[in-house]
Amino acid sequence: MNPFNIINEDYQHQFARQDPKMLKNMFGSEDLTPFWIADMDFRVAQPITDELKRLVERGIYAYEFATQDVYNAIVDWNNKRHQLSLDTKSFLQISGVLTGISLLIRELTEPNDGILIQTPVYHQFAQIIKKSDRRIVRNPLQIIDGKYEMDFKDLEKKLQTENVKIILLCNPHNPVGRVWKKEELEKLTALANKHGVTIVSDEIHSDIIYSGHRFNSILSLGQKNHIAMLGSPAKTFGMQSISNGYIYIPNETIRKQIKNTIGAMYLNHGNALTTFATIAAFKEGGIWLDDLLHYLERNISWIQDFVQKELPFVKMYPIEGTYQAWLDFREMNLNKEELDQLITEKAKLALTPGNWFDRDSALFMRMNIASPLTKIQTAFKQLQTALSESI
Ligand SMILES: Cc1ncc(COP(=O)(O)O)c(C=O)c1O
Repeated sequence: MNPFNIINEDYQHQFARQDPKMLKNMFGSEDLTPFWIADMDFRVAQPITDELKRLVERGIYAYEFATQDVYNAIVDWNNKRHQLSLDTKSFLQISGVLTGISLLIRELTEPNDGILIQTPVYHQFAQIIKKSDRRIVRNPLQIIDGKYEMDFKDLEKKLQTENVKIILLCNPHNPVGRVWKKEELEKLTALANKHGVTIVSDEIHSDIIYSGHRFNSILSLGQKNHIAMLGSPAKTFGMQSISNGYIYIPNETIRKQIKNTIGAMYLNHGNALTTFATIAAFKEGGIWLDDLLHYLERNISWIQDFVQKELPFVKMYPIEGTYQAWLDFREMNLNKEELDQLITEKAKLALTPGNWFDRDSALFMRMNIASPLTKIQTAFKQLQTALSESI
């Protein structure tokens, strides 16, 4: 049996996605099939499990540092997977990508400075900016011919007038599923340079890329200054609760500044289980990832087909990368409360409401599709019944 087809019911209620208290709190009911949080239903690659077993069986957790081996594994991986040449000296380890973004914002900008985000976007971006007492500057993406595009005119206007110090880029973009093209990143970078703005590029979804698309890191443009990239094995290998993040800063002065703060706060203390699982993942997880991507592509093509044929008032945007489907319910002519009710009370699903990602996206829903296909098929049939009853 294909391992991705297995529905792992054991312990499900212990995970955030299915935790009854969390579902009740957020969606008003415990009795929902969850497709909201961005983690996977699948078991991780066998080399990760083998490595964790080896460490647990030793039964000794003495200090053990192998950070350079982590960086070497990430460098090799990016070389092979994305033809991206990186330097191990430019990495800094941090507990997670969000910690890294928060730190960069606090170190590189002042309270009330503008931080630009391209909405709708991963909701924690706005949260981090608010919690850091910086100002959110929105550069909304545009839908052109059924596809999300950056609005460069609006971007330039915002850079001119809003005292923007950082562009917080999401590449690939969560939730709209775009994998930014080199020409788009070049235009963005040219504008950032013209206005002296730093690009902080969150590339946590960089390995979830589908056929016909190519991932371009912001680092592939060859720029050395005013740039920081963040990544992690969490999304790639389904290691959400056991992974670290890393920051890559080509500019030595800025890297030293950030490194000093990380060191001063002892944020770089590694965890051996995380460290060695990460090395195993990047060194030996490639085949598993290829199989995963193949499986997810089949999920996507089934969903696209079903939405097109059976859900005439719902629109789904092309998914170039990430395991999120961005569903547009605007043609249903419902208000937000009615849409929420339809999804939770009638279809019995927990999807992420669009207004988490932007105030203008209340009639959208994000659905995590990293689940066995049969589970997804059941969910869409529940949605179909709920929608047909409401028309
Ligand atoms: C774009 C993006 N960045 C960061 C994160 C979370 O990263 P971490 O758990 O390493 O802080 C997520 C999780 O969904 C994400 O989608």
